[in-house]
Amino acid sequence: MIHEQNETRIALVTADLFPDLYIDDHPLRDALLARGATVDAVRWDDPAADWDGYDLVVLRSPWDYQGRHDEFLAWTRTVPRLVNPADIVAWNTDKHYLSELAAAGLPITPTAFVEPGETWTPPESGEWVIKPTVSAGSRDTGRYALPEDLPAAQAHVERLSAAGRTSMIQPYLAAVDTAGETALLCFPDETGAMTFSHAIRKGALLTERGERTGEYQEEITPRIPTEPELKLAEEVLREVPGGAERLLYARIDLVPGADGTPLLLELELTEPTLFLRYADGAAERLADAVLRRV
Ligand SMILES: Nc1ncnc2c1ncn2[C@@H]1O[C@H](COP(=O)(O)OP(=O)(O)O)[C@@H](O)[C@H]1O
Ligand SMILES: [Mg+2]
Repeated sequence: MIHEQNETRIALVTADLFPDLYIDDHPLRDALLARGATVDAVRWDDPAADWDGYDLVVLRSPWDYQGRHDEFLAWTRTVPRLVNPADIVAWNTDKHYLSELAAAGLPITPTAFVEPGETWTPPESGEWVIKPTVSAGSRDTGRYALPEDLPAAQAHVERLSAAGRTSMIQPYLAAVDTAGETALLCFPDETGAMTFSHAIRKGALLTERGERTGEYQEEITPRIPTEPELKLAEEVLREVPGGAERLLYARIDLVPGADGTPLLLELELTEPTLFLRYADGAAERLADAVLRRV
């Protein structure tokens, strides 16, 4: 095979666990190949990787950086042409960003933060979610009914604190049991403006009380978002530090609050699953955005 001198080279960043990328990213690779690009799946911690040799380095499934957060952030700062950019990754991998978004007036899931060394005063009743500020894939996340589950809830916060981690305490948003969670995916359009591409519904994950353990199956179906959901996604993107036009992808995860209006559960700018298999044209839209960014 003859390689052209000006061939566009794209790295899709993955982890040891997914040497051939996560299945959700296969349509992206196919669309890039169809557009004539060269595509490599590269482990973020591959010592032999030649990051300088790529026109764009796209974070996709580097899902083993939990417990190696500092190492991962340090790595992002060394990689040229990384998307999303390293400063965004540093901001976005710590869910303290939710309080900044709340201060900007956005409706986030009500959240109390318990820093390591602080004492948690548990609510007297109700159902609550406890999770760490740095996490993904609902690791170290639990659902507790108070007062019945008080010892387990307290032990959860204490365990996170002892590990130097911050706990987040949120009311359990019961609408997730029926309406589910809505994830809105946005990519830059031809003008570079972040634009809604598609959405999915994710079924509730914390279906039982106590801490989540082991494997689970996510229940994903395509979904058409409501106007209030689309509007909130736009408002959230406006608050991205440095401007949303630096992003290649964004996922905005929403759950209805008690009054039915959407609340922000999570803004995923680091390595979200993009659910490219659930909407016609999504992988092509993203591939076009990748090549425009080069
Ligand atoms: N406050 C909450 N109310 C209801 N369900 C929640 C709440 N927080 C988290 N969950 C459930 O746990 C899952 C994982 O939590 P999330 O905040 O998305 O963290 P991450 O995806 O980073 O692990 C969500 O998809 C949702 O099903
Ligand atoms: Mg999530």
